[in-house]
Amino acid sequence: MYITANTDTYCIFGNPVKHSLSPILHNFMFEYYGIDAVYVAFEVEDIKKALESVKALSIKGCNITLPFKEDAFRYVDEVGDNDTAFLESVNTVKNENGKLIGYNTDYLGFIDLFDEYAKFCSDNDTVVVLGAGGTAVSVLYGLYKLGIENIFLLNRTPHKAEKLKDKFAGKLNIKVGLLDDAIIKEADVLINTTSVGIDKESLPIKPAILKKDAIVVDVIYFDTPLVKEASKLVLAAINGMGMFVSQAFYAFKIWHGIEFDKPTAENLLKDLDL
Ligand code: ATR
Repeated sequence: MYITANTDTYCIFGNPVKHSLSPILHNFMFEYYGIDAVYVAFEVEDIKKALESVKALSIKGCNITLPFKEDAFRYVDEVGDNDTAFLESVNTVKNENGKLIGYNTDYLGFIDLFDEYAKFCSDNDTVVVLGAGGTAVSVLYGLYKLGIENIFLLNRTPHKAEKLKDKFAGKLNIKVGLLDDAIIKEADVLINTTSVGIDKESLPIKPAILKKDAIVVDVIYFDTPLVKEASKLVLAAINGMGMFVSQAFYAFKIWHGIEFDKPTAENLLKDLDL
């Protein structure tokens, strides 16, 4: 398909953003579904100005990634649903005739990733979440939506975990600790939301201490050292590719009203050298 004067523009704003898989996935799906649009990445310094440019240039929609999701929540004109209002974090924006509507599809991505494992979780299971940043908020909200209430939230900086405990008061029963908390040995489910492992070298915890029947989830979209080591030791260790594909699936649905074929997306991305 040729890019013409009628081609619609979509984009992602982040910093850094050069590693993003979103352009590959969305452009592939435009071709696949015959949508006359193009999706590009912009590394920006100022998300307020970037969102103003969405209006000025009639960009139809954008994704927001690190470190701008919380700021984007403040600068959109409206939020699309109550979930986004609670999360106070926006990763998807739709430009509806000059009005920017913000959505969070990250937590939906986590639900899709974890759903098949959640079925096997009981109230007595020990669920440990590592990290208390923006990704942790989406993961905690996903766990809440899946009916998993009792959570140990471990973070390098304790006050950030305490803040999330307060945010989720009435929704989740959160106990807070540090990343070396002894509870890790008891974890039936361990979910890493820290950025430790993005460098392909570091580990947030020592996998050797995990129980043999534990399930390990790392929301980073490739096999981190945690996933690689844990997969030799525990029942299941999965990376965050499914979460990435699902958040894009819901963004695509918001923008185009189309539910793209997830296996096709996963096949496309699995052949890339991530
Ligand atoms: P994101 O939106 O991806 O969650 P973030 O909000 O910057 O990004 O949060 C990153 C998370 O990774 C935080 O929990 C952070 O811990 P702190 O709250 O102590 O900063 C965690 N993190 C990042 N680098 C880390 C490291 N080297 N060791 C331990 N935790 C780390």
